[in-house]
Amino acid sequence: MNDEITALIEGLSQAQKTISPKYFYDETGSQLFDRITGLPEYYLTDAELDIMREHVDEMAALVGEQASLIEFGSGSSLKTRILLEHLDQLAAYVPVDISEEHLLASAAKIRSEFPALDVCPVVADFTQAFALPAPIVTPVRNVVYFPGSTIGNFEYDAAMALLRVMHGEAGENGALLIGVDLQKDAAIIDPAYNDSAGVTAAFNLNMLRHLNTSYGSNFDLDAFEHRAAYDSDEGRVVIELVSTRDQSFAIADTHFEIADGETILTEYSHKYTLEGFADMARDAGFKVARVWKDKNELFSVQYCTRL
Ligand SMILES: C[S@@+](CC[C@H](N)C(=O)[O-])C[C@H]1O[C@@H](n2cnc3c(N)ncnc32)[C@H](O)[C@@H]1O
Repeated sequence: MNDEITALIEGLSQAQKTISPKYFYDETGSQLFDRITGLPEYYLTDAELDIMREHVDEMAALVGEQASLIEFGSGSSLKTRILLEHLDQLAAYVPVDISEEHLLASAAKIRSEFPALDVCPVVADFTQAFALPAPIVTPVRNVVYFPGSTIGNFEYDAAMALLRVMHGEAGENGALLIGVDLQKDAAIIDPAYNDSAGVTAAFNLNMLRHLNTSYGSNFDLDAFEHRAAYDSDEGRVVIELVSTRDQSFAIADTHFEIADGETILTEYSHKYTLEGFADMARDAGFKVARVWKDKNELFSVQYCTRL
């Protein structure tokens, strides 16, 4: 049994059945995520794009010349294009993603849009340290870019471990440019994860289809429903799949029972205060040097240097 199957079985064997959010992302999941970013309820993307457009000159100056821009979880590199248009002296752009097909297609598109740019995609699970490719021009520094508030998908210890991986990949004089979603009223947050078109529900359920297709499980997709709600005490959205009947399923010959109404936790989306994020960043070895917010103060982009 390989490590991934062992980890999946461990997650599903806990009192709160859990599947890692990384299993959202096969090609279909990546496409569904792109649709989520265009939904009217999903305020995160518009707010982050507004911040990028308004402050890109300052961000580009902080990144500097001959840097390597290493994007964790690059997806379709939507926000990155704004940066790339203002970074004509970049040594390399290194998009890193677990969703291989989508990553390679996005990297090819970036190459055609920015023909002078050295684009070096890396297929990797970014929760583990990975080898950086050697660009044609040796970069003077590495800047890790992590938009989309994907950091919020990790609980404190895992977020800290991920920030430490970024700290290592950034290296000596490196930096981190990161999108961080902010705590706010549940009336704004809840609709973002329960859109009226049902795209987020399809994205959540696609995880089970992905596992059935690629990991040999036999989930009945018609017997689970999407649920997402903001827990303001914990400052996080809890995203689950709810079993709609007593049923069983199997993965790699390991059988599980799930009761009617019982849930599988598929993702958290943590929302931060500026102080809370700064504390976590500091504990991982970063100092928040600059914070930009959108006009409604929904979202932030933060530039962090290594302590
Ligand atoms: C929330 S999306 C954000 C996409 C894009 N950065 C944006 O801001 O729109 C998360 C991205 O991270 C990738 N991803 C999730 N978990 C990952 C992991 N453990 N290792 C590498 N990539 C991962 C997904 O494939 C997806 O493209």
